[in-house]
Amino acid sequence: MSAPLLQTSGLQLAFGAVVVADQINFSLHEGERLAVIGQNGAGKTTFINICTGLIRPDAGQVFFAGREVTRLKPRQIALRGMVRSFQLPQLFSEHTVRDCVRIAAAGKRGALGCWTPLAEVVPASEIEHVLAMVGLAARSGELAGALPEGQRKLLDIAMALVLKPRLLILDEPTSGVSTDEKHGLMATIMRALDEQKVTAIFVEHDVDIVANYATRVAAWIAGKVAADGKPADVLADPMIRANVIGE
Ligand SMILES: Nc1ncnc2c1ncn2[C@@H]1O[C@H](COP(=O)(O)OP(=O)(O)O)[C@@H](O)[C@H]1O
Ligand SMILES: [Mg+2]
Repeated sequence: MSAPLLQTSGLQLAFGAVVVADQINFSLHEGERLAVIGQNGAGKTTFINICTGLIRPDAGQVFFAGREVTRLKPRQIALRGMVRSFQLPQLFSEHTVRDCVRIAAAGKRGALGCWTPLAEVVPASEIEHVLAMVGLAARSGELAGALPEGQRKLLDIAMALVLKPRLLILDEPTSGVSTDEKHGLMATIMRALDEQKVTAIFVEHDVDIVANYATRVAAWIAGKVAADGKPADVLADPMIRANVIGE
C-alpha cells in the first residue's frame, strides 16, 4: 500500500485529569472515506483539532503527506492540503454566498489585507464552479446569514473545497439538519468530494449515514480508538453497539 496521507504517532493529550487523546496511532490513505463515531466527549473533535494544528498535543506527532506538521499553525497545515470544517459553520454571515467563497479562496492566496479588490484576486468562474458542485449556484447572490442550516453546511464545505484540499475533515456535517435532509446533504457532499478526488474524514452520529457513505469506521472511546475497520464489522461489533451506538 502507498504511504499514508495522514498518520499520527503516540498522540497524547490531557485536560487536567481528563485524558482526551490516549496513545493514538492512526493512519489514513488517499481515497478513504472515514467515519469517526463516538459519544459526546470521547475526543473526536480534539483529535481533529490536534491534526489541524488548533491544539498542540502533550506528546506524539502528526504527519501529513509524508511531512511532520505537529507544530505548524492551522493556516500552514491548510496550505499543505489538510482542511477542516467546524460543527457550527464558520461563515461571513453579512456577506453573500459568493463572497464567502471568494474570501476563503483569497485568504489562502495571502491576498487579504491588501488593497486589491477581491473580485480581481479569484476568478468568478472558479467561485461559481465550487458553488455549483455543492448545489448552491442559484443562491450565490444571497446573504450567507439567510441560508437554512443544510445550505449553511454546504457553503462551509464550498469554502473548504475552494482551497483544493487533499484531505477534508468534516466535524458533524449533518448535525442540526433534519433526518429527512441528511441523506441529500451527504450525497451532495460526497459527489463534490468525488469530483475533486478529495480524501475525507467525517464525524457522524447517524449509523445509517455511516453505513451508507463511509468506507471505514473508527470508534472513539475516552480518547482511544476502540475499533477501526470496515463499516459492516465495526457497526456490528457488540462492544461498539453497547458503548458507542448506545443500544
Ligand atoms: N479546551 C478544552 N479545555 C478543557 N477541556 C476540554 C477542552 N476541549 C475539550 N475538552 C474536553 O475534552 C473532552 C473531549 O472533547 P471533544 O474532543 O470535544 O469530544 P467529542 O468531539 O468527541 O464530543 C470533553 O470532556 C471536553 O469537555
Ligand atoms: Mg465534537
